[in-house]
Amino acid sequence: MGTRPLLNRRLAGMGSTIFAEMSALAVATGSINLGQGFPDTDGPREIAEAAANAVLTGRGNQYPPGPGIPELRAAVTEHQQHWYGLSYDPDTEVLITAGATEAIAAALLALLEPGDEVIAMEPFYDSYAACIAMAGATRVPLTLRAPGFRPDLDELRALITPRTRLLLINTPHNPTGTVLTPEELRGIAELACEHDLLVITDEVYEHLVFAGAHHPLAALPGMRERTVSISSAGKTFSFTGWKVGWVTGAPELVAAVRTAKQYLTFVSAGPFQYAVADALRLPDSYFDTLRADHLRKRDLLAEGLAAAGFEVFRPEGTYFITTDITPLGETDGLEFCRKLPERCGVVAIPNVVFYDNTEAGRSQVRWAFCKRDDVLAEAVTRLRRL
Ligand SMILES: Cc1ncc(COP(=O)(O)O)c(C=O)c1O
Repeated sequence: MGTRPLLNRRLAGMGSTIFAEMSALAVATGSINLGQGFPDTDGPREIAEAAANAVLTGRGNQYPPGPGIPELRAAVTEHQQHWYGLSYDPDTEVLITAGATEAIAAALLALLEPGDEVIAMEPFYDSYAACIAMAGATRVPLTLRAPGFRPDLDELRALITPRTRLLLINTPHNPTGTVLTPEELRGIAELACEHDLLVITDEVYEHLVFAGAHHPLAALPGMRERTVSISSAGKTFSFTGWKVGWVTGAPELVAAVRTAKQYLTFVSAGPFQYAVADALRLPDSYFDTLRADHLRKRDLLAEGLAAAGFEVFRPEGTYFITTDITPLGETDGLEFCRKLPERCGVVAIPNVVFYDNTEAGRSQVRWAFCKRDDVLAEAVTRLRRL
């Protein structure tokens, strides 16, 4: 096979994700895993039963329709209307995907040409970099800096070039917990309109907002026709393994994304689509409780991390806390996270892996708090040994 590397140039250096490395370390050392963002408690029982019933009654066991089952597409439109006053046509403006992950991949593969530039808020969720690369495009980071992690709109303006095709926005933002304010969103929308850019917004943490509120970018003037909005059931309903996600947007955008999506998975998660349709129609009290529970968990872990000596950046949303390890006399987050399981039996994720400007994230470490209170309390106890 000669000397040519097997992995193509676009994916070179992307090896395996930090989550795989750290989760394996958690298992090997018996550590508490606050690395990967998955809950340790499943979502509502009645939703799990709906999935089981769908399997047993033969709903979704064979290939579902390419765009997703009509029941779920309708439920997505009701959700967008109910929470944000956004109206979408379930037949032409909604697409069901294999989690937000596939939606992101399909949207980027569909909308980008090689050589295009994509401006994305960094630290970025790891699949963004890989998918931009697979599309042959170039990522251009808009760096969110500690302690506030706010986007600098002048910097954004300066990053836009004639090659810029797309802005990739994530709010609430993983890993910093930043929730974009209406003003920030307005500034981004104005730049997108002024430069005729497409926008992808990743809103998978839309129901985990503790300060302010989640505002979809698609609701702003001029944005509906240029924005692909993405969300999924994993975080909101605590069923991350089901991988049911969705895209909403203008018909031409959704049609483009669907074209790429049909050659990735074609369809997925048939029975789970029925269950997620039910989940999206849960009463507001479900969503209120989800938020209240995670607010309590956030505060429990934030206080514990502060007591253990970390500088804590309290997140406005998501279920992650970013900290700085400098007060502990440490500077290298990656090295710190690799040693942490052995030192005190806890696993965390170094934010540096989500940055191109690695200096901006070198000493930051991310902790997931979507865990049982007793697990968080035990993690905090262990961290005090530091
Ligand atoms: C910002 C962000 N986008 C997308 C995803 C993936 O979502 P899904 O599990 O629905 O594919 C995650 C999961 O961690 C995430 O944090």
